[in-house]
Amino acid sequence: MGDNNRRQFIKKLGLATASVAAAGGAFTPKSKTITYLKRTNPMSPSKELNIALIGAGGMGVEDTTTCLQHEGVRLVAACDLYQGRLKAARERWGEDLFVTADYKEILRRKDVDAVIIATPDHWHKQISVDALSAGKHAYCEKPMVHSVKEGHEVVDAWKKSGKVFMVGSQGLSSLGNEKAKELLAEGAIGDINYAEGFWARHSPVGAWQYPIPGDASEQTVDWGRYIANTTQRPFDPLRFFRWRNYLDYGTGMSGDLFVHLFSSLHFITGSLGPDKISAMGGLRYWKDGREVPDVLLGMFDYPETGAHPGFNLSLRCNFVDGTSGTTYLRIVGSKGSMDVKWEEVVLRRNFSDDQDDFAKAKAKEAGKVLSSRKKMVPPDEITYKAQDGYKGAHYDHFHNFLHAIRTGGAVVEDPAFGFRAAAPALLCNDSYFQDRFIRWDPVGMKVV
Ligand SMILES: NC(=O)c1ccc[n+]([C@@H]2O[C@H](COP(=O)([O-])OP(=O)(O)OC[C@H]3O[C@@H](n4cnc5c(N)ncnc54)[C@H](O)[C@@H]3O)[C@@H](O)[C@H]2O)c1
Repeated sequence: MGDNNRRQFIKKLGLATASVAAAGGAFTPKSKTITYLKRTNPMSPSKELNIALIGAGGMGVEDTTTCLQHEGVRLVAACDLYQGRLKAARERWGEDLFVTADYKEILRRKDVDAVIIATPDHWHKQISVDALSAGKHAYCEKPMVHSVKEGHEVVDAWKKSGKVFMVGSQGLSSLGNEKAKELLAEGAIGDINYAEGFWARHSPVGAWQYPIPGDASEQTVDWGRYIANTTQRPFDPLRFFRWRNYLDYGTGMSGDLFVHLFSSLHFITGSLGPDKISAMGGLRYWKDGREVPDVLLGMFDYPETGAHPGFNLSLRCNFVDGTSGTTYLRIVGSKGSMDVKWEEVVLRRNFSDDQDDFAKAKAKEAGKVLSSRKKMVPPDEITYKAQDGYKGAHYDHFHNFLHAIRTGGAVVEDPAFGFRAAAPALLCNDSYFQDRFIRWDPVGMKVV
C-alpha cells in the first residue's frame, strides 16, 4: 500500500471526523467515531423473472424468501427429495406451486429463468452444470463444489452457457465487506500482513444435530436419488437430515463455515487465494457417529500479488466453545486492524510511529531530523455501522444476482471466485485427513 493511499485516507478521515462533529455539535468520545454506512442500490429494469428452488430445506427457503422480496420475481416450482419439504413449500408459497423430486423436470420447464440450488454440497456441481446447460441462470449455495476436482466443470459450463451464475456467500455483498475493501485500498490499516477468522458455537443445532422428522422413511424420502452420485448405502435418516456430518454429502466445518471467511477476505483484499494450506483439529465432544472434526484450525500462506503483499491467515472453528455464538474476521496491517462484520467495521489505528524506538532509529539512519513537536492525530478507533433499516447482505447478494440477469452484467461471486473461495476450504479437509500441507495454485486453480 503506497504512502499516497495512506495520505489520502488520513485526509478523508480528517474531513469525515470534522463533518460528524459539526453535524452532531455534541461531545464525541476521545478517539472514537461512529459513521453510518448507506446502501443505494441502482434500480434494475423491471423485467419479470420466474425462479425455481432446488433443495427446499433451511437455506433454500431463506434464499427464496429473500429473492422474492425483490420486485418482479415469481416462484413457479420447487424440488426436494423429502415430501415434508414439498408440502411445506406449497403451504408457504401456494397450493398451485409445481413440485417434484426430480430437478431435471424443473430444468425442462420453459417458464423458469433462474434456479436457486440449495441442496447438500454433493449435488451442487451436477445440478449447476445441468442448469447452465439447460440455459438457466443459477444461484448456487456455498461451497460451490464438494471437491476441488469438480470446480473446473462448473467454471467451464458457465463460460459456455453465457448465463449468470452466482455463488451464495452473501456476506461479501454486505455494506460491511464493501467498507472494509474501501478502507484497505485507501491504506487505512497500512500493508496487510495477517488475517484471522473465527466461528464459535456450542449447541446441538449449531453442531449440526438437527431434528429428524417423525415420518422420515423410504416412503417419504427419495433416498435412491439422494445417493445416486455417491456411495451406495441402505437408508439412513441421519445421513439425510444431518448430512453435514458425513463426507459423502458435506464438506465439514471448513466447507461449511471457513468458506464464508475466504469469500469475504478474497473480496476485501482482491486476493485469488492461498498457495499453502494446513489444518489440524479433532473430534472433541460431538461423538455421534460423525466423520468430521468439531474443532478445526486452518493456517494459510497468501503469496504476494499485484493486489496485496504476502500475508498469513489463521481460521478457527469450535463447536464446543463455551463463549458460543462469536464470529469475526479481523484483518491486520502495519498501521492498524479492522474487525469486519456484515453490518459493521471497527477500524483501529496505531499512530505510534513517532514514539517507536525502531522507527526513530530508522529515521536517524536515513538522516531525517525528527521534530519533538506534538501533532494532531485523527481518532484511533472508528466504528462504521449500517444505517437502521438496512436490508442486509443476503438481500444485497440477490440484488446483485437479479440485476446481472436483467442487465446482462456481472456478479460479485461468479464460479471462478466461488471455486477460489471453496478450494482452500475443501483442501483443509485433505490436509486434516492426510496429515500434511497442501500446495494450491490459486491462479490456475489446481492442486500442485
Ligand atoms: N449461505 C449461507 O449462509 C448458508 C447457510 C446455510 C446453508 N447453506 C448451504 O445451503 C445448502 C443447503 O443447506 P441447508 O442447511 O439448507 O440443508 P437442509 O438439509 O436444510 O436442506 C437441503 C435440502 O435439499 C434436499 N435435497 C437433497 N438432495 C437433493 C437433490 N438431489 N435434489 C433436490 N433436493 C435435494 C433435501 O431434501 C433438503 O430438504 C448447503 O450447501 C449449505 O452449505 C448456506
